Amino acid sequence: MSDQIVWKDEYKIGVAKIDNQHRKLFDYLERLRLFLPRGLQNPVVGSTIKDLVDYTQFHFKEEEKFMRQIDFVDLEKHSELHKDLLKELADILRRLKRDDNYTGLDLMAFLRHWIVDHVIREDVRIGKAYEEATSSPTSS
Ligand SMILES: [Fe+2]
Repeated sequence: MSDQIVWKDEYKIGVAKIDNQHRKLFDYLERLRLFLPRGLQNPVVGSTIKDLVDYTQFHFKEEEKFMRQIDFVDLEKHSELHKDLLKELADILRRLKRDDNYTGLDLMAFLRHWIVDHVIREDVRIGKAYEEATSSPTSS
């Protein structure tokens, strides 16, 4: 059994809208982790995976919109990471249907690695850029 997925305030990047979405993403992940032992064929597990994928797509779009708003220097690079994640996730979901050796635990490991690490390592940089942009002294 994998460890509980808990949102912590230290994961905040300092942008309320994004932080709330990240927290919701973590909630979806934890829900999936709790339901997964019922098996991938379970309808609740299926709908939780769908909710998680839908919400991730929505959140990435919102995050990209925000990066554009603040002229984030690494917008392109960061958007690529989002694209890669969604592509890899789609591959995994396909494999889950066909490959018996591929289990819900693999899906969980992937999501934990990608989403949690992404928020902690990459999204935090958006927060820093935002902080710098809003705290820089306006001389004129
Ligand atoms: Fe991101």
